[in-house]
Amino acid sequence: MVYSGKIRPVGNRVPLPDKSGKPALSWEGLYHTRFVDSGTSALSLAIRIARDLKPSVREPEVLLPGYGCPDIIAAAHAQGVTPVLVDLVPESPWMDTTLVSSKLSDNTVAIVAVNFLGLASPMEELSDLARRSGSLLIEDSAQRMPPSSAQTAKADLLVLSFGRGKPVNLMGGGALLVSHALEDQAQKSLSRFPVNSKRVTLKWALKRQIFNLLVSRICFGLLERIPLLRLGETRFKPLERITLERPIPGLLASGLSRFETAPDYRCELGKKLKVLDRHGWIRLPETQNHIDPSNTRLLRYSLLAPDAATRDYSVRSLNQAGVGANSFYGDVLPAIPGVIGSLRGAERLECAKDFASRLITLPVHEDVTSADIEGMVQVLLMSAQQKQ
Ligand SMILES: Cc1ncc(COP(=O)(O)O)c(C=O)c1O
Repeated sequence: MVYSGKIRPVGNRVPLPDKSGKPALSWEGLYHTRFVDSGTSALSLAIRIARDLKPSVREPEVLLPGYGCPDIIAAAHAQGVTPVLVDLVPESPWMDTTLVSSKLSDNTVAIVAVNFLGLASPMEELSDLARRSGSLLIEDSAQRMPPSSAQTAKADLLVLSFGRGKPVNLMGGGALLVSHALEDQAQKSLSRFPVNSKRVTLKWALKRQIFNLLVSRICFGLLERIPLLRLGETRFKPLERITLERPIPGLLASGLSRFETAPDYRCELGKKLKVLDRHGWIRLPETQNHIDPSNTRLLRYSLLAPDAATRDYSVRSLNQAGVGANSFYGDVLPAIPGVIGSLRGAERLECAKDFASRLITLPVHEDVTSADIEGMVQVLLMSAQQKQ
């Protein structure tokens, strides 16, 4: 059989800087942008600001969803803040606001609403809860561009990531967006961190070329067979360093424009997968988006299978057909390999566990074609029918 490679799960190719372009940042009127070395650092600094605003709290806590990227735990630990995990609404990636309310205490310095694979977290109730409890609301939009608060101004602080598997891939970096009301505190809280100026070096240019080559179908399919590389594996990594950055001029502008103009297969895939509803599947982009859908570009297309066995079977079948589908983090946060340190709320995460066991994500990045979409639909329909 001819080897035709595999379509990677996520990640756009890295652009060249467009020096003529000043990025049109949709949040600019509402938030001040500070660039940092990663999304984890941006979230950690947001938590730092929240902590510094409540200096009398001896054991500060931050509320986080029980299912998510382990970097959010590392971000809290780096500031000496204890993550308190909150279970999700059934069959949804969003924190249950009744549980958020019950976990708020005098120790809470912030609530983190985490956008999911391009879908915007509901913010209204969280914003009310944060205000009433005197804590900050942080929108972690590492997985969505633009953040919903760019339109609604609901969050006090926003977090962006420009890492490899993110909407705007600049081979690393992130941004902390600070509401005008918090600007003075941000100046104080961030003043002790070092600043690094980024520029295009030969090393950067080579790394970009190599990265863009490796994400092609042929290379990705081969790389994935090397177990040592542990591609796609989720592991906990403590945050050891935070640096503020002066970014490469024009790089964010070209990254944003590339992301915004790439082909968008969300609607096509969503419509074709509608038949799965009858087989007990749930299409998350159609049921869980809390903002104007016309302003939504997905990072991956996410679905819940009727049960864990169907999910596992579907992931296997799609990968055999050359599609980098996966189950994303695979488990709730406390069960991710390497997660250590203080953590509360780990014992009651039933809905998050169910979500983790049934989630399947499909690629919808710039290199996915209509033929790939057709292929994914065929495989999923067959999986659904086989399980009947
Ligand atoms: C929701 C969320 N927050 C923060 C991060 C950390 O971003 P970075 O990889 O740029 O450190 C990630 C990374 O995947 C993420 O998914």
